[in-house]
Amino acid sequence: MSEDPSRESKWRPATAVAHLGRNPREHLGAVNTPVYRATTMLFDSVADLEAAVRGDYMGITYGLHGLPTVVDLQDAMATLEGGHGALAVPSGLAAITLALLGTAQPGDHLLVTDSVYGPTRRFCDQQLRDFGIEVSYYDPLAGAAIESQFRPNTRLVFTESPGSLSFEVQDLPAIAAVAHRRGALVLLDNTWATPLGFAAFAHGADISLHAGTKYVGGHSDVLIGLITCNAQTFPQMHRLWTNMGVTASSDDCFLALRGLRTLAVRLEHHTRSALTIARWLRDRPEVDEVIFPALEGSRGHALWKRDFSGACGLFSVILKPVSKARVDAMLDGLRLFRMGVSWGGFESLILPVYPEISRTATRWEAAGPCLRLHVGLEDPEDLMADLAGGFERLRT
Ligand SMILES: Cc1ncc(COP(=O)(O)O)c(C=O)c1O
Repeated sequence: MSEDPSRESKWRPATAVAHLGRNPREHLGAVNTPVYRATTMLFDSVADLEAAVRGDYMGITYGLHGLPTVVDLQDAMATLEGGHGALAVPSGLAAITLALLGTAQPGDHLLVTDSVYGPTRRFCDQQLRDFGIEVSYYDPLAGAAIESQFRPNTRLVFTESPGSLSFEVQDLPAIAAVAHRRGALVLLDNTWATPLGFAAFAHGADISLHAGTKYVGGHSDVLIGLITCNAQTFPQMHRLWTNMGVTASSDDCFLALRGLRTLAVRLEHHTRSALTIARWLRDRPEVDEVIFPALEGSRGHALWKRDFSGACGLFSVILKPVSKARVDAMLDGLRLFRMGVSWGGFESLILPVYPEISRTATRWEAAGPCLRLHVGLEDPEDLMADLAGGFERLRT
C-alpha cells in the first residue's frame, strides 16, 4: 500500500512513481520496502494458523502468495495503470503466457496481431494449439475491420502496440469496441509505452502486460513481468497465479520498485534523445525511413498523438538498399550502440531486425535492411557521432 491512497488519483506520473507502493510505517520507517526473503511463516497457535488459512490473520501463510515487496510492486502498478489489481511474475514472457492461459479455454479461437513479439507467437503456435485453442493472426492496422476475422468462438484479441520491431500503432479503442461487443477480451502488451505512456484500461484493454525487464527495471539487471487486470479479469488471473506458483522473487520486485521511482525522468530523457536522433537519421542519405510513432510524420504518428501520453527510446530505421556485409561493418564498429536483444535499460543498443519473419497475415515491405535502435541515457551528441562513424563504414 502507498502512504496515502486517498491522494493517488490526483498525483501526476512523476509523483505517482515516486510514492506508490511503499509504506515506511510498516517497515521501521524505511523509505523503500525492504526485500522480504521468506518461505515459511510461523504461527504461535492453532487458532492463529487457522485464521491465516481463512485469510483473516495479519499476513500470508507461505512466501509464494504475496510477500510485502511483491505486494507493494503489484499495488503500485495497479494504481499507476488504473487497473483493479496486478500480479508480478518472473519475466515479461511469463506475464504474457500466464495471461493467455488464464483467459483462453480449449475450443476458443484467439486473434493475435501479426506484429506480435516472436516468443508470444511461438507460445501460441506451439503450446496453445496443443491445448485445443485455435490461433489466427490479424493485420495490426485492422482497427474496426478486425470484425471480419471474428468467428463464433473468438474469445480473445491479443494486441501489442506499437509492435516492438515494426512499430505499428494499433487502434485499440476500435478493436476493443468490436471485441467487447462480440464477447471477447482484449489483452495488450503495453511494454513499449509503459503505464505512463498509454492508459491501457481507458482505451479498452482488459489486461495490460509488461516486460518490467525493460523500462520499469530500467537498468538491464532484472527479469520481471507484470500483469495488470481490470475487475472482470483479476479474480481468474489471481487464481491462476496462485495455483501455478509463479510469483516473482522479492529481490526482483525490489529492483523493479526501485526502477519505478525514476521511470518518469528516464522516459522523458529516452524520448527526447530518441526524437533528436530520429530526426537526424531521417535526414541521412543512407536512410529510407524512420519508424518512430512519436516522430512527426512517421507511420503511426496520428494514432500515437490521439491515444498516447508518452513514448520511449525504441524505434526502427529502414536503410536504403545496401549489402549485408556493409550493414555488418557499420554495426561491428559501433562503440556506444552495442548489440543486444533487449531494450529499456540505461544503455543504447542496436540490432539488425527482420520484421518479415513469421508474418502470416501481412507482408512487411521495406526498401532495405531494418535496424532497431534503443536510445539510452547517454548524451545524444555522442550517440550521433557513433552512428555517423557507422554510416562512414556503411558507405566505404
Ligand atoms: C514487446 C516485448 N514483450 C515482452 C517481452 C518479454 O520480456 P522478458 O524478456 O522479460 O521475458 C519482450 C522482450 O524482449 C518484448 O520485447
